[in-house]
Amino acid sequence: MDKNNRAAKAADMKQVAVLEMRQAVDELLVNRFSPNPRAYPNDPVAQRVATERQAAILARHGATSTAEAGTSDVVLIKTPQKQVAYAFKPMKGESPQNFAPPGGAAMREKMCSVLNDEVLNTTGLDFGFPKVQLGTHEGEFGALIEGINGRTMDAHALAINAAPSEAGLHEVNRTRKLWTTQVTRIQARELQKVMLANLAMGNVDVKWGNMLVDLHGNCRPIDGGSAFPTRCALARISYQGMAPDKLCDGPIMGSLPAGDEPMDPALRTQFLAINTKALASTLLARRRELLDQQPPDLLINGEAPDRERMLDEDAVLAGIASLELTQRILRETPDCSMRTLAQRYITGLQAAVPTSDVEAYQRMDETHSFNTMSKQKLFMASFDREVAGEMANPARRSVARSA
Ligand SMILES: Nc1ncnc2c1ncn2[C@@H]1O[C@H](COP(=O)(O)OP(=O)(O)O)[C@@H](O)[C@H]1O
Ligand SMILES: [Mg+2]
Repeated sequence: MDKNNRAAKAADMKQVAVLEMRQAVDELLVNRFSPNPRAYPNDPVAQRVATERQAAILARHGATSTAEAGTSDVVLIKTPQKQVAYAFKPMKGESPQNFAPPGGAAMREKMCSVLNDEVLNTTGLDFGFPKVQLGTHEGEFGALIEGINGRTMDAHALAINAAPSEAGLHEVNRTRKLWTTQVTRIQARELQKVMLANLAMGNVDVKWGNMLVDLHGNCRPIDGGSAFPTRCALARISYQGMAPDKLCDGPIMGSLPAGDEPMDPALRTQFLAINTKALASTLLARRRELLDQQPPDLLINGEAPDRERMLDEDAVLAGIASLELTQRILRETPDCSMRTLAQRYITGLQAAVPTSDVEAYQRMDETHSFNTMSKQKLFMASFDREVAGEMANPARRSVARSA
């Protein structure tokens, strides 16, 4: 008996020693030998390669998990200390909800990062959108997004991921209570910044599930998949009257005082300083480069993507138009609250989207439902046919320009 015990103890100790050694090797590989993309600020190719290699090393020697929220495939690549280093969103797993063709969501994530850098460099305003590289991870092409520490307060995800037990229910209620007090400590300016970041990119999908909050209440926007809306997406936003007002209410319930606070003056000044003409030409040029740099033999779910439509020029301009609309509202109403901004924004957008597009969308909506990529393709093709008559008139194509 005693002998057996001693043998078992020795085996345990060996196992612990091996695990500790493995952890030390992992940490050494991750901390000392994985390349740092920030070491190459002026070399985009080196940045991409370093990002890919760092993500590959982490996936092997750190940890990975799939995201518990959202509708696309998201792999969270973590350090050995379980911090998210990258979120990888492969082109093949994109959500069908944004009416962008396959690859469109990854391109949009990248463009949000480009816009973020451009605004930071020209006005000093940091929206906080993470850095994004288009690259390959474990054989798939997609968006490698810098990891952000913090958590989303996503009530829907919380509910669906809860364990179906008393303990699970208890945990959900505890978290809901915690969030309800935590949100009251987030400053209005933080929420306003996230809202403006999204509207600067034409993204009305502003919500608690698309924002990471850290322990100090600092907020950062994530998920650019719905930014730079396609013509079909704009028609839906207009038809459904999707006001970007979710941050005016808490993640659980009830309106937040922050939703009615006037816009932070310094934030407003910086936002109004964004030169939209210059930004538009930078983004269009970067779009061209990004499309041209994609692997020539790229396949998404076995099909060659339609590159030009992945992110079309009109979608980039729709993002800029959204930025201009937001600037106009802030100029007209300097002490505008988030709630007022959301209302004025949707009214302005609805005035700008051609009625014929909204009617086409409505006809589609009555006869189709979409929830898979293949249905989404059908839906989009029909929308294009519906609006085809007036597609020929380029004057009507730049929507949301002059609300
Ligand atoms: N850059 C990031 N850093 C840390 N976690 C992230 C990051 N991006 C996404 N996540 C996690 O993955 C979840 C889903 O990501 P999201 O970009 O919103 O995908 P979806 O398109 O599916 O909505 C988020 O709610 C968050 O928990
Ligand atoms: Mg999301």
